[in-house]
Amino acid sequence: MSNPNYPPRVTVDPSLEVISHTMVERYTALNGQMADHYAAFQPLQQPHIVSSHSAIMSTARAAINRAAGSDALRRAIVLGAGNCSDIPVAELARTFDTTTLVDIDVKSVAKAVANLPKRLHEKIDIIGADISGVAGDVAEVMEGAARRRSTYKGYLQEAAWGLSGIDPTDKQPDLGEGYAFVCSHLLLTQLGSIAVATLNSDLTETKYGVPFTYSQEGIEKPLTLHLYNLTAKLRKSHVDLLARLVEPSGTVHLADTYTQIVDGDMHTMVRDEELEYIAEQFAELAPPQSWRWQSSPNGEFHVVSNSLAPRGDTPS
Ligand SMILES: C[S@@+](CC[C@H](N)C(=O)[O-])C[C@H]1O[C@@H](n2cnc3c(N)ncnc32)[C@H](O)[C@@H]1O
Repeated sequence: MSNPNYPPRVTVDPSLEVISHTMVERYTALNGQMADHYAAFQPLQQPHIVSSHSAIMSTARAAINRAAGSDALRRAIVLGAGNCSDIPVAELARTFDTTTLVDIDVKSVAKAVANLPKRLHEKIDIIGADISGVAGDVAEVMEGAARRRSTYKGYLQEAAWGLSGIDPTDKQPDLGEGYAFVCSHLLLTQLGSIAVATLNSDLTETKYGVPFTYSQEGIEKPLTLHLYNLTAKLRKSHVDLLARLVEPSGTVHLADTYTQIVDGDMHTMVRDEELEYIAEQFAELAPPQSWRWQSSPNGEFHVVSNSLAPRGDTPS
């Protein structure tokens, strides 16, 4: 039976209600650019999409195997679903009783779901939420500093001080628990970069004519250090969120761009301490998979995909 409430059900979490329309529009604009980019470089993107779908479904199927014999509903959740270009949503919806797609940008997710066969819509829920739980606080600090400070230096000082007071620990939205399969695909590294860095550089360029750049020296140093600290806390909290969402016998797909390759040089995007924290929280169900993602003629990433199970429950 097709969903009579077409287009698919959308719920707005309170974490999204505190975020300004301007900020949500930033995410929608970025996803729009990403969709155009995918379309423009489709043949280059294809190997990444195939590898992503295959890695996600392999861990999703492991969840079904681990839950064999249980009568409980099999529920999947995808965090940061966005345009769903590299997420096999149709296959997940066929595999699980329900599939929940979460993103700050509900418009792009709804657009992607609308293109799926209508009979799958009744198995899909969309939740609009700020997965970091602090995007509103970050925007308030940055936008407030830009409103109040007339100089770039004053802005940097106030923004650094404001950010030092933001702690995302346990601030993530309540998205439920007991999911058989939890998917976080290319989201971890975005949690700090979009809300914090993009907003930061846009604001300083508009108001002071100087796009903010990270620097370990000079007047940018304190804000740079606070941004690094906040990013580290956001990522740790994200791993904690994955552990809260998944049921003890469930599985977690956690993949991201571990390095970016620029002009032949490798730039680390996921740090060793973050990998150690993931290993503390989860056991590997299978060795990590990795592939190169040529996102455009000049853009290349190294993606690593982890197939995980909560610790305390021996992977079968
Ligand atoms: C790199 S994209 C993932 C690509 C996506 N899988 C696709 O196929 O289009 C990251 C996604 O995470 C979302 N996102 C980033 N930060 C978020 C946050 N704090 N809360 C919710 N969604 C967020 C973005 O809107 C975007 O859709």
